[in-house]
Amino acid sequence: MTSTDQSPTARGSGTSATQAFRASRQEHTAAAVSAERVSSVVGRILAGVHDAIRAEKVTYDEFQAAKQWLIDLGEGGEWPLFLDVFVEHVVEDVAAETQQGTKGSILGPYYLPGQRKLPSVASLPARPGEQGTPLVFAGQVRDTDGNPVAGAELDIWHADSEGYYSGFAPHLPDGNLRGVVVTDGQGRFEISTVQPAPYQIPTDGPTGRLIDAAGWHPWRPAHLHLIVRAPGCRPITTQLYFEGGEWLDSDIAQATKPELVLTPVEQGDGTLRSEYDFVLERG
Ligand code: DHB
Ligand code: FE
Repeated sequence: MTSTDQSPTARGSGTSATQAFRASRQEHTAAAVSAERVSSVVGRILAGVHDAIRAEKVTYDEFQAAKQWLIDLGEGGEWPLFLDVFVEHVVEDVAAETQQGTKGSILGPYYLPGQRKLPSVASLPARPGEQGTPLVFAGQVRDTDGNPVAGAELDIWHADSEGYYSGFAPHLPDGNLRGVVVTDGQGRFEISTVQPAPYQIPTDGPTGRLIDAAGWHPWRPAHLHLIVRAPGCRPITTQLYFEGGEWLDSDIAQATKPELVLTPVEQGDGTLRSEYDFVLERG
């Protein structure tokens, strides 16, 4: 990833991610949660924190530093970045216990609904001369009985060849490398795009400072994000990675799964082609 004057800052990405999250919540009405459930979940979380403090003999200095850091995280709008990198993968594991078909992965903070609808054979919206290795991503959507799912939507978004997401990095046009591809009568699709670069958590904000202070690295392997949905089917939120990709074995967000790794084949003209079929659960 190169750094330019227009590079997104942690504060910029954090603020945009927080705004996108708030907008997505407006579609939900708060479900009533019983006091029993709140007490049980929050009680366990607090017990985990108490255990860590006792086991690590956390000092007052460290406690106050943690408080300051949490204040900074909120003020920087970085809660979505922090939670999606360090916590969401476990929530997804629990959701996956009851999901058949294609494996899921985390949504992350950079999904934006309402992107351009595209036919089954389509190129994602891109800048003129969009940099990066051309990638053709093709396959079929079927249900768990093996029937093709016509008219399924592949809501796809990914970073560019520098690891930046449109809608969050100010130098990228809205909708760049995002689209909703609709499968044909046989459930098939063929999407032309460019291969994304690995993604680096913004290093100049509180999440980046924590990663640095802990001596961790801030990288996620290159990935495509997808939500695959169809009427009468349970939607699947997932990500696809690239065989041999850097950081595949040490994703900071712990969101990779062996079933979600593509094996692109070079076509002889510099284009990579990858086939992947999705399986949706009815109901
Ligand atoms: C984050 C970014 C991603 O692109 C992703 O897929 C998951 C998490 C993040 O910065 O929190
Ligand atoms: Fe991502």
